[in-house]
Amino acid sequence: MKFFIDTANLNQIREANELGILDGVTTNPSLMAKEGISGEQAVMNHYKTICEMVDGDISAEVISTDFEGMVAEGKKLAAIHENIVVKVPLIKDGIKAIKWFSENGIRTNCTLIFSAGQAILAAKAGATYVSPFIGRIDDSGWDGIELIHQLSNIFSIQGFKTEILAASIRNPNHIIKCAEAGADVCTCPLDSILGLLKHPLTDIGLAKFLEDAKKFA
Ligand code: G3P
Repeated sequence: MKFFIDTANLNQIREANELGILDGVTTNPSLMAKEGISGEQAVMNHYKTICEMVDGDISAEVISTDFEGMVAEGKKLAAIHENIVVKVPLIKDGIKAIKWFSENGIRTNCTLIFSAGQAILAAKAGATYVSPFIGRIDDSGWDGIELIHQLSNIFSIQGFKTEILAASIRNPNHIIKCAEAGADVCTCPLDSILGLLKHPLTDIGLAKFLEDAKKFA
């Protein structure tokens, strides 16, 4: 399973990248706004900076909701760097745009996916990635991980090449469950990635080893 970080914060991207396990970055308009990035040029520059920091796929989201607007925006985003993946919302014009992008050599990440039917449509249109929102599904009283299981099964039966990119991750256990359920990629906040490191027995064990090491140092 590939690890992406889900943020537009450069310090967090750097910290995850320095771990040596980072395969890419996903952003969205809310994450860009959180970093105070505004204006088309500032947004484009920010994506360029991220592309220069991380050697992997970088999702950059369109904000248009009509086919022509999405295609125009996506072309500009894709021109920033070869690693840019154009992120498109799962709406009717989004599906048309994904089809257009896939026929014109531009890779896409179909976002805001909450059901298997939506993911099948995006895969049929040629999306490179589909992003089911695990945490938000859980928040609404459904089971986000169950959707990953379902998509993994369907994509395997149907031979879809589209990768399942589990998004809206809220904790380390989500990452483990996504790996178990067959997600191809998990995009996570830094805290959830670092949470995978933690176990009290590791801390207790290391303290004991270091204490004992003093006996022969
Ligand atoms: O990038 C999309 C997704 O990961 C958003 O997560 O926590 O806002 O539901 P969240």
